[in-house]
Amino acid sequence: MLDKRGFSMHNACMSHAQRVQTSRDVCFVRAYAKINLTLDVLGRRADGYHELATVMQTVDLYDTLCLTAIDDNQVQVICTSPALSNDENLAGRAAQLVRQRLAITQGVRIELYKRIPMAAGLGGGSSDAAAVLLALQQWWQLPFTPADLLDMAASLGSDVPFFLTGGLALCEGRGERVSPLPAYWPLPMRWLLLLKPSIGISTAAVFRSLSASDYTDGRYSRLVCGALSARSELQSENLHNGLERSVLNSYPEVARAREDLLAAGASLVRLSGSGPTLFAPFSELAKAIEVQRRLQAQGYEVYLSRAVSPDGDVNLF
Ligand code: C5P
Repeated sequence: MLDKRGFSMHNACMSHAQRVQTSRDVCFVRAYAKINLTLDVLGRRADGYHELATVMQTVDLYDTLCLTAIDDNQVQVICTSPALSNDENLAGRAAQLVRQRLAITQGVRIELYKRIPMAAGLGGGSSDAAAVLLALQQWWQLPFTPADLLDMAASLGSDVPFFLTGGLALCEGRGERVSPLPAYWPLPMRWLLLLKPSIGISTAAVFRSLSASDYTDGRYSRLVCGALSARSELQSENLHNGLERSVLNSYPEVARAREDLLAAGASLVRLSGSGPTLFAPFSELAKAIEVQRRLQAQGYEVYLSRAVSPDGDVNLF
């Protein structure tokens, strides 16, 4: 009972108002990272993208964005990572897209406090972009329909539509067809360690390196969706990521980090997205912290996290 109560409190409801906080002059918004529980690559499409079925979940590692109105007719991005303080930044491009669609001349400055590692497989840039779309819609009371927002999100990147809702979802197509799933998360996975090897990986390069043997028919994502909706136990062999073989073969740092996570006490380790971040679930906080400390002593960047639903409660089973 105590255990249960502790966790329902731990997963206290985070309302939409907590994700986006606005006043007349300033708007704060959180952008959560994600992990992929499954990632089936069905095959390569004529347009060069790959057909996917992937189950994604937002986690409580987040970037904070602060939007302010400026007098100039432009978008400025100032980021705690200097490499991201430029026009290519997806958050800035999202604001520019909104202004273009509605011929808005009001300028905006985006201050971006980056905590989610970049090019890490955690969807940080995509989440920042979705956060800007949601923030501007709410702050400036824009007339976009959900379909407009989805369309803009998909034009910014395959993962961006998922972050409009976040939580737990099945994403198909190139990732932009999002079916939200009920907010349940397996109790044995209540704590997550995210280990970010010290390399960045290009998603495009990983997809290019796939061979036909990496393709599946979407069965792992279907099985995991079925288990989640039945609230039955997840089978570790179904937590399949079709990009993992190629990444472990091509990037020895990731293969080594995976071995080190297992040696430090993790019982299950999976790649998130195209990596290099690996995640390992734990049912006990004490164990997760022990493993985290061991890995940090080896010089690894490791985050302790949990599943979150930006717009509501996460129920554990
Ligand atoms: O959509 P996004 O710009 O995030 O994708 C980055 C790159 O990853 C694409 O240019 C493409 O090479 C690859 N990709 C893919 N199939 C997907 C998603 C991404 O091949 N479903």
